[in-house]
Amino acid sequence: MQKVAVCITGASGVIYGIRLIEVLSQLDFRIDLVVSKTARLVLKEEHDKTLEEILNSLKGINLHEEEDFTSPLASGSVLVKYKGIFIAPCSTSTLAYIANGINRNLIHRIGEVALKEKVPLVLLIRESPYSKIHLENMLKIIEAGGIILPASPAFYHKPKRMEDLIDFVVGKLLDTLRIEHNLYKRWRG
Ligand SMILES: Cc1cc2nc3c(=O)[nH]c(=O)nc-3n(C[C@H](O)[C@H](O)[C@H](O)COP(=O)(O)O)c2cc1C
Repeated sequence: MQKVAVCITGASGVIYGIRLIEVLSQLDFRIDLVVSKTARLVLKEEHDKTLEEILNSLKGINLHEEEDFTSPLASGSVLVKYKGIFIAPCSTSTLAYIANGINRNLIHRIGEVALKEKVPLVLLIRESPYSKIHLENMLKIIEAGGIILPASPAFYHKPKRMEDLIDFVVGKLLDTLRIEHNLYKRWRG
């Protein structure tokens, strides 16, 4: 069974992270999940279900606490066995911590370890507009080998529902790790 880690932070669009774990669970991945405290707050604002209700309906998910630096995920020797790490959505705060090598929670540590061990790391950033500091931090991540994916859905697949827009972005996340999916119709020219 292939392993991925998914971290959900307190940017708007927590639904992207939720949909991502749903799809990865359906694709039979083993998912290690970390949800920041602020992400739980945003979830309450943006979603009808609690985290526990969502997780109860999914298989293959191990939940880790944000404060738990003793988690296996904090170790490079463990993380090198992972297909990749998604931080989705990624707040500009978490972006700043990782870009500057500071660890105040397990999510920052996972980001740091992924970069040093060259494990694919994808940050789905959601903020608007961007400041120079945001852009500089994103550049640092890219220069260190990470992937920055803006939470910006496209419209060429003629989305009809909000779910189509969400699935487009989640599909782009899966594309970064070359994970097969049918979440959106590709442009055929
Ligand atoms: C309802 C709500 C929406 C937010 N939306 C965003 C956002 O879209 N992008 C962002 O970078 N921060 C957003 N924030 C601010 C972050 O939650 C805040 O920076 C927090 O410190 C992030 O912590 P975390 O990265 O540990 O989850 C939002 C906060 C709240 C309460």
